[in-house]
Amino acid sequence: MKHYSSLLLTALMLLLFTSCNDSKKTTYTDNTAVKESLPATNHPGKKLMETQCYVCHNPSTHEKGRIAPPMVAIKSHYMTDDITQQEFADAMWRFVEKPSGNKSKMRGAVNRFGVMPYQPFVEEEIRQIADYIYNYKIDEPDWFKQHVEEESQGKMQYRNEGKVVDKTTAKNNSPVDRGLEYAMSTKKELGKNLMGTIQKKGTKEAVLFCNKQAYPITDSMAIAQNATIKRVSDKPRNQQNQANQKELKIIDQFKKAIASKEDYQPITELVNGKNHFYYPITTNSMCLQCHGTTDKDINPTVLTAISKLYPEDKATGYDVNEVRGIWSITYE
Ligand code: HEC
Ligand code: HEC
Repeated sequence: MKHYSSLLLTALMLLLFTSCNDSKKTTYTDNTAVKESLPATNHPGKKLMETQCYVCHNPSTHEKGRIAPPMVAIKSHYMTDDITQQEFADAMWRFVEKPSGNKSKMRGAVNRFGVMPYQPFVEEEIRQIADYIYNYKIDEPDWFKQHVEEESQGKMQYRNEGKVVDKTTAKNNSPVDRGLEYAMSTKKELGKNLMGTIQKKGTKEAVLFCNKQAYPITDSMAIAQNATIKRVSDKPRNQQNQANQKELKIIDQFKKAIASKEDYQPITELVNGKNHFYYPITTNSMCLQCHGTTDKDINPTVLTAISKLYPEDKATGYDVNEVRGIWSITYE
């Protein structure tokens, strides 16, 4: 079914784009590349973990900048010699469903970071993530094993057994993959900083943070990647993020696909030798405290801060799982 709808969507896009194309452009939506690029493990839990948990639990953040333990620390606490996959997934879901200090197996982490904030995760997806963590060696920070061995003085055991994902097959350089990589790494960087500010200083401070840091962060990612990285919207908060005609059309397509729960793929085009990449930015419950309904989701002091900085703000009134905007990325 999934396969079908994505094929349908591709067909639709091809039709749309080829019918209004000028001759200089070559247009393609490269679905096959996405499929073929799936790494040795196309375990769905890996991707879910990277998109849903790595904002906070990612392995590459420097120890000092962390807002939560790396996932391997959680694995090390939850794994025991004789635990079954089922028990491991149950334990993880029991915590994530409704995190609380009582249920915690990681007192040290709770003391350092505070209890994990409640987020409305889907049980099925948490179980897929747990299955992945249970069966595979997951990415871990370089310092982690040594840290466990030296500092915990035998209180905690280092555990990260499992099948190894082949990094060489996981790396892929098709235009679509590179675009996705730019989008996801920027998302991670923005998300990490945003969540960290909300956790430590509250939502109102986080508005000021977005105002000051959203551009510098995307720009520094762009420089590091040698690409142009933009977040644009049909209803922008910052007027500099207004989508152009082309981008508006693409936003519309993603909106339709997502509203009808169709599978969607990134759109890439080659224009004058440059890759143009588009991918939707969707809302989750966390976003609503700054982009939701003004009299229901957004705290009045937060709203005041937003209105002051952005008198022309159009970026409210969203619900979860809506298209807030798109990544519009250009690279050689
Ligand atoms: C907004 C940041 C954030 C996100 C996103 C997040 N976590 Fe956490 N998580 C934390 C923090 C902070 C802790 C450490 C404090 C604690 O244990 O509650 C934690 C701890 C945990 C623990 C250990 C709980 C314990 O103390 O025994 C588990 C299990 C966990 N997270 C699973 C997940 C999974 C699975 C995801 C993705 C679906 C996820 N987390 C996403 C912040 C986050
Ligand atoms: C703490 C408040 C806050 C939260 C939470 C928040 N945003 Fe924003 N968002 C902002 C501010 C402020 C801007 C304007 C940034 C700028 O000036 O560049 C913005 C801008 C954006 C933009 C760029 C387009 C535009 O409207 O200017 C997108 C896309 C976006 N946010 C998506 C999201 C998504 C998706 C989430 C949830 C995952 C989210 N935001 C959560 C405050 C927030």
